Amino acid sequence: MIRAVVRGFGAALPKQVLTNHDLEKKVDTSDEWIVQRTGIRQRYIAGEGETTASLGAEAARAALANAGLTPDDIDLIIVATSTPDNTFPATAVNIQNRLGMHHGFAFDVQAVCSGFVYAMATADGYIRGGMAKRALVIGAETFSRILDWNDRTTCVLFGDGAGALVLEATEQPGETSDRGILTSSLRSDGSHKEKLYVDGGPSTTGTVGHLRMEGREVFKHAVGMITDVIIAAFEATGTTADDLDWLVPHQANRRIIEGSAKKLGIPMEKVVVTVDVHGNTSAASIPLALATAAGDGRIKQGDLVMLEAMGGGFTWGSVLLRW
Ligand code: UT7
Repeated sequence: MIRAVVRGFGAALPKQVLTNHDLEKKVDTSDEWIVQRTGIRQRYIAGEGETTASLGAEAARAALANAGLTPDDIDLIIVATSTPDNTFPATAVNIQNRLGMHHGFAFDVQAVCSGFVYAMATADGYIRGGMAKRALVIGAETFSRILDWNDRTTCVLFGDGAGALVLEATEQPGETSDRGILTSSLRSDGSHKEKLYVDGGPSTTGTVGHLRMEGREVFKHAVGMITDVIIAAFEATGTTADDLDWLVPHQANRRIIEGSAKKLGIPMEKVVVTVDVHGNTSAASIPLALATAAGDGRIKQGDLVMLEAMGGGFTWGSVLLRW
């Protein structure tokens, strides 16, 4: 059978770091509150000339270099983002052009913080269906540009950045011990819209709008939804928490990550946490965490890795893969 196997990874961060102490000067908050409630200590903020597409293209170039490939080798680009450079064309097409690619096809996936998981599942479908041989799957965001910088309940939480994986079609016997994406579980429920949304858009206000969140309400649903899709992945593959080498969660809040890991019986030594340095970068958070942990040698070829996310919509999902 054909499986989508990770061949390379890369990441890109804006130049400017914004610490909790910097934020204390902008809004009524404290480093202590932010660290205790979220685990975040700093985040990166896009400056002049840095956009979702520029960060995404930089992450893509790094992933291609890591894979030993060039843009000529890629035939599909999927970008997960809720902060596109333009309403259209898709940021994926923008990145395709920045890479000097004029072949293949490129499109965006919009599932907010679950975007990277959705994009991985989508790329997996195209690869297994034979429509693509090598895909760049990118999560890229500039949430700083849709934040209300006067709203302390949201502006301290988010950051900017991008991460990318190269997925490659590979013939496999199809065992759980073989490399590649083993299974994906995706869910959504639009009745939760008001808990996490942006109060603008092309078809309603004609403006970009600002992020609005009832944090406590989102928090209440997060652990249950995350564990639901992780258990679905275990059941689909006959694996258990003990088989996992790494849990690479969406990085929204350290307390949510710890709560989910505890409920599943996954020790924190097996969990990749980057929320302290990146903040919540929405669809970019998982590929940034993957690039961090693969880059420093924690995630190795053959490791069983669980990705999971939950966010606006609500959307939530998991991808289980052997690295
Ligand atoms: O990535 C997409 C999914 N998003 C998430 O997963 C986010 C989920 N939610 C959360 O992570 C948490 O709910 C937050 C970190 C957003 C908030 O933590 P919390 O423990 O739920 O705090 P809270 O909203 O219940 O607020 C507690 C208090 C409030 O004051 P009162 O009403 O108790 O007097 C807030 O006004 O903290 C206050 N507060 C702040 N204080 C200092 C809210 N924001 C701040 C702030 N600095 N930045």
